[in-house]
Amino acid sequence: MKETLLKTFGEVYGDTEGVKTFFAPGRVNLIGEHTDYNGGHVFPCALTIGTYGAARVRKDRKLCFYSMNFEHLGVIESGLEDLKPAKEAGWTNYPKGVMWAFEEKGYQIPFGLDILLCGNIPNGSGLSSSASVEVLTGYILKEFFGFDVSNQDLALIGQFSENNFNGVNCGIMDQFAIAMGKKDHAIFLDTADLSYTYAPVKLEGIKLVIASSNKKRGLGDSKYNERRSECEMALAELKKVVEINGLGDLTEEQFEANKSAIKDIVRAKRAKHAVYENQRTIKAVRALEANDIAQFGQLMNESHISLRDDYEVTGVELDTLVEEAWKIDGVVGSRMTGAGFGGCTVSLVKDEAIDTFINKVGEAYRRKIGYKADFYVVEVGDGPCTL
Ligand code: GLA
Repeated sequence: MKETLLKTFGEVYGDTEGVKTFFAPGRVNLIGEHTDYNGGHVFPCALTIGTYGAARVRKDRKLCFYSMNFEHLGVIESGLEDLKPAKEAGWTNYPKGVMWAFEEKGYQIPFGLDILLCGNIPNGSGLSSSASVEVLTGYILKEFFGFDVSNQDLALIGQFSENNFNGVNCGIMDQFAIAMGKKDHAIFLDTADLSYTYAPVKLEGIKLVIASSNKKRGLGDSKYNERRSECEMALAELKKVVEINGLGDLTEEQFEANKSAIKDIVRAKRAKHAVYENQRTIKAVRALEANDIAQFGQLMNESHISLRDDYEVTGVELDTLVEEAWKIDGVVGSRMTGAGFGGCTVSLVKDEAIDTFINKVGEAYRRKIGYKADFYVVEVGDGPCTL
């Protein structure tokens, strides 16, 4: 990949003097969905697929961006003076947002950059290509300008930029999973205080399979923000009767005892998901640590049901992928992953069942939905690095 990056960089920008090459992963969340903005736990891991980058510092304050995934757009030019939260779409808003966020946090970027990116995360799959670009950009700035920031800071700066530059009110999970990724480990993160531990993902004879629904997200982001405010309202109602900071502070029993404080049936379902999903995540990590993969898979399935029935973020595409997966012998667990409303599912599949899984689920999906799903057998990888 390094050679391809350098060769293309030379073709696009004339030469490769002063160029360095980088990588930041994508992520998949194993369990703990829509808990990260509710002070709950998540359990994601970084992948070996992600975003590659080549970059160098310029002598002026110009910014030049080129993506090998959007070659038809050519080089997109901007400047360090033009970094303002933008409403218009476009992939350069992610790197620009991170540069803006660094400056907002008091890190002055002295010179512009020539940047080339190349991602191998399937497009729109919900494996966090945007957070991958954010963390990669932060890592590049740190490497070139010597900013004193930890990988955890890179995650927080990435989230800050996505919230305030791109207008998506996301939690910390994606950026954290990417910035803090560790090969063959998932991250058990408590989003209430950012304390975390790594848990080995020992999957003897089992692989992680991603199924991408290829459904375009559309209204996804506004629905995401809607779920977030529903949870905030439910929390405000619960706070009148019980002393908590977030829905993640409640056990299932405490929730059941106090749920009548929530005055709307839909909001009560949203809050129920947030509480139960957080507890499920804690139980799932315990099961994995005890090497009880069957129990882990069962909790993944329950997570999907809760996201489908109580949180209502799945849709026919994700439900079809998961419900077809459940029918197959050798599938340990299957659920939607990420924000939902499209994107992808994650399944734990026994080695000998992978071909059947891909054929059967793929065929049923095409028959019911009318277009194809894509399948990827993925591996758990490290966080950002210089190549
Ligand atoms: C998106 C957000 C994350 C998280 C998930 C749902 O991926 O970026 O912060 O909220 O959705 O778990």
